[in-house]
Amino acid sequence: VEITTDEADAFKRRQIAVYSTGDPTFLARRQQPIAAALVEAAAPGAGDAVLDVGAGTGNAAVAAARRGARVTASDLTPRQVELGRARTDADGLDIEWVEADAEQLPFPDDSFDLVLSSFGMVFAPRPDVAARELLRVVRPGGRIAYTMHARDSFNGAMHPVIVRYLPDMAPDPVDAFSWTDLATVQSRFPGCEVRLSTHIDRGEAHPSIDDWWQDTAENIPAVTYIRSVLDDDRFAQFRYEFVELALQYADVEADGSLRRRTNFVIGMVTCPRATTEDPGRAETSH
Ligand SMILES: C[S@@+](CC[C@H](N)C(=O)[O-])C[C@H]1O[C@@H](n2cnc3c(N)ncnc32)[C@H](O)[C@@H]1O
Repeated sequence: VEITTDEADAFKRRQIAVYSTGDPTFLARRQQPIAAALVEAAAPGAGDAVLDVGAGTGNAAVAAARRGARVTASDLTPRQVELGRARTDADGLDIEWVEADAEQLPFPDDSFDLVLSSFGMVFAPRPDVAARELLRVVRPGGRIAYTMHARDSFNGAMHPVIVRYLPDMAPDPVDAFSWTDLATVQSRFPGCEVRLSTHIDRGEAHPSIDDWWQDTAENIPAVTYIRSVLDDDRFAQFRYEFVELALQYADVEADGSLRRRTNFVIGMVTCPRATTEDPGRAETSH
């Protein structure tokens, strides 16, 4: 069921509120290995025009720029763009930063060889609209590569819990996990070749579950946002549910420490080349 424009706008305002809290650089450090895996899978060449959508502070953008690509990074949340620009300037990387909604990208048709989005455009409230926009800005024969958490993962299990604790949010209007269903993704990119692969990222170990929780409560945007809007009792209940699921999904080491396990999907979409002899056929771009 397609949601209304008003609902979509409200959802985007919430995204901006969430991603304006917490420490974006903390989340970026956690997600860096996954963005690196995405860029390695997409393998942009030197000189390729690459767009990072929902770039946050630029994890995928940075990895692509280090391979010599010409990179534009974009995000809906002004604070992310600001911190991202500061980060890549400090790193001496020539990356152009733009504030942009995945559903309405401020770029001409056929602008990019590759569009990357690591846990980014999957949060657009209208997946079909976002998919059309990504397809529009990528050149014929180009590719779209993204990541999303697997449904069967800690993040997949936590998502409905987070939604339940966000006031005025249930039922969740957006199923971001639909980006991990092959048939659904194929229907969003007609004529393109779609490949999904699943991967596991093992994070650093936490000495205890309390340490893990503390890190999360202080730094992860969705959780810092929840903390800012809930009273203490309700936030304590949230903590209880978090701990239960965290223990269920973590790898417990011999010394009792806990290692996070992030199951994620890489989606690779190859768009058809515009050839008159063979319209609509999907080919790889290199
Ligand atoms: C989980 S963070 C991922 C950031 C970064 N790609 C990374 O891997 O670290 C999600 C990002 O998506 C952005 N976002 C949410 N909705 C968006 C939309 N409709 N268009 C563009 N970006 C969006 C948020 O502002 C946030 O920076």
